[in-house]
Amino acid sequence: MVDFRHERTVAWTDDTVVLIDQTQLPQRFTHLVCRRAEDVAEAIQRMVVRGAPAIGVAAAMGLVLATVQSRATTAKSLLADLERAGDLLRRTRPTAVNLSWAVERVLRKARQRHEPEAMRRVVREEALRMAEEDIRANQRMGRYGAALLEDGDRVLTHCSTGTLATVGYGTALGVIRAARAQGKCIHVYTTETRPALQGARLNAYELREDGADVTLIADTMVGHCMRTGRVKKVITGADRITRTGHVFNKIGTYQLAVLAARHTLPFYVAAPWSTFDLRNGWEQVVIEERHVDEVVKVRGRRIAPKGVSVFNPAFDMTPPELVSALVTERGVLHPPLAQAIDRVA
Ligand code: MRU
Repeated sequence: MVDFRHERTVAWTDDTVVLIDQTQLPQRFTHLVCRRAEDVAEAIQRMVVRGAPAIGVAAAMGLVLATVQSRATTAKSLLADLERAGDLLRRTRPTAVNLSWAVERVLRKARQRHEPEAMRRVVREEALRMAEEDIRANQRMGRYGAALLEDGDRVLTHCSTGTLATVGYGTALGVIRAARAQGKCIHVYTTETRPALQGARLNAYELREDGADVTLIADTMVGHCMRTGRVKKVITGADRITRTGHVFNKIGTYQLAVLAARHTLPFYVAAPWSTFDLRNGWEQVVIEERHVDEVVKVRGRRIAPKGVSVFNPAFDMTPPELVSALVTERGVLHPPLAQAIDRVA
């Protein structure tokens, strides 16, 4: 059994970044050890590590690796190496704002130092601090969000939003985890989340290891489960939330929100402050498109005819009018979301 309440998805150990290898789950629980910033970038791209907060902290630790790798003896050349590594890490995945936020936060600290050893030290301290902050933010979010769930609730979630999507504890799953820790009996419905199957492979696995009451459904079953009263509430995570309350999350989230509104069910989104993008409008957000193989193959086995045209966006946008509340470590934000976000920003 893996105790996901205390497990870390991303860890700094002996000058390496140790990642739970999520490409191997649920069959094998193994780790990937990264020794270079390039290894971390590749791991993010291959989704060895995925989930908005997890890739942010992984990238920050990738920058620590860059300071270890660099032979620079002056602050100027070390900073140049760091900026190069930052560009590489930032380019891996465009939608989750946590990634560029984390890289920028570490680089800002580095730029304030004018001596290479001091620069190496602050980069490391900042990355490790971010890992701790992520767990604390998730736990606090869990405490706030748990108030939205009642004993006996049947809650639908999407993608993987637990420990495996963060450094530890989780966003939407963190809220469910906190409600369960308060003694509430929660039945969780988790979608399989095609095409990359994060729900079936990762969320169902993490919930099972936690001893939660969980039912896996295919993405196509959501409307039926809502209409027949199986599902009473929806809670998802987010990869980016703009100042206006537009929520970017795993592809399929938008249709859950539309269906929830059709059945007058609450639709909640749980995300730490590192997922909020107060600078860009929702129209500027780039939705990542991934390789066609994710759609034409299931776990490496082809299911579609060769030559068929494929569209594979990894995320979608849910407008604020479909969101009942945002759960953050700064509290639960209720509509109108733009004003609520501004109040705590
Ligand atoms: O493509 P992924 O697996 O990185 O997408 C992850 C999600 O969309 C999660 O729902 C999101 O990061 C929020 S939960 C931390």
